[in-house]
Amino acid sequence: MSDHQEAIAEILALAPVVPVLIIDDVEKAIPLAKALVAGGLPVLEITLRTPGAIDAIRRIAKEVPNGVVGAGTVINPAQYQAVADAGARFVVSPGHSAALLDAAKNSPVPFLPGAITPTEVIELVSAGYRYLKFFPAEPAGGVPMLKAFSSPLPEVRFCPTGGIDLAKAPQYLALPNVVAVGGSWVAPADAISSGDWGRIEELAREASQLSRAGQVRA
Ligand code: 3PG
Repeated sequence: MSDHQEAIAEILALAPVVPVLIIDDVEKAIPLAKALVAGGLPVLEITLRTPGAIDAIRRIAKEVPNGVVGAGTVINPAQYQAVADAGARFVVSPGHSAALLDAAKNSPVPFLPGAITPTEVIELVSAGYRYLKFFPAEPAGGVPMLKAFSSPLPEVRFCPTGGIDLAKAPQYLALPNVVAVGGSWVAPADAISSGDWGRIEELAREASQLSRAGQVRA
C-alpha cells in the first residue's frame, strides 16, 4: 500500500493539472496525448465513458512514452483489471467501494479513489490511502470545503476535479492539502473533434505553468 501511495505521489508531482479526457474517436488518442505532453501535462486520465477508452489507453501506453496514462471513471473490479491489462499506470474513481479497494490491493497499479465527506476520507485513510480524488469538486463545496478538511484531516492530500477551469485552478492549488487538480478544460470536445492539437497544446502549456502550494511527498 505504501508503494502505491508513493507511486501516486510521484505521478501527481509531475504536473499541477491532470487532463480528464473523454475520447470518442480512438484515432484521436495519440495526437491528443502528444499535444498535452508537449504542452507540459504528461499525466493523462482517460475516462471509461466511451467504448474506445480502453483501446485509447492501450495505444497511448504503447506510443506516447513521455506520457503517464491512467484510467478514470473506474467503478468496478472488472474495469480495474481491464485498464491494468491495457497498460494504465494509475486508476482513478469518482468514489470507492469495498470491491474496488480489494481490486486495488491485489493489483500492481496504484489507485486514486474518490471521497467528498469526512466519513469517506476517514474510511480511505483507515485503508491506507493518503492521496484522494475530491469529486465533484465544485458542487461538493470546492475550495472552502477542502480548506475545512485541512485541520481535522491534515495528512490527506487531494486532487480535486469537477467544474474546475483555468480561472478556478489557482485557488485550489494554493491550498496546502491540494497536490494537483483534474479537469477537462485543457482538452475541449470541439478541439479534439476538429483535431486542433495546437490549441490543446497551448491550453496545456497555460495549465502546466500554474504554481501550487501543496507538498507532494509519499
Ligand atoms: C472527472 O471525471 O474528473 C470530471 O468529469 C471532470 O470534470 P470537468 O469536466 O468539470 O473538468
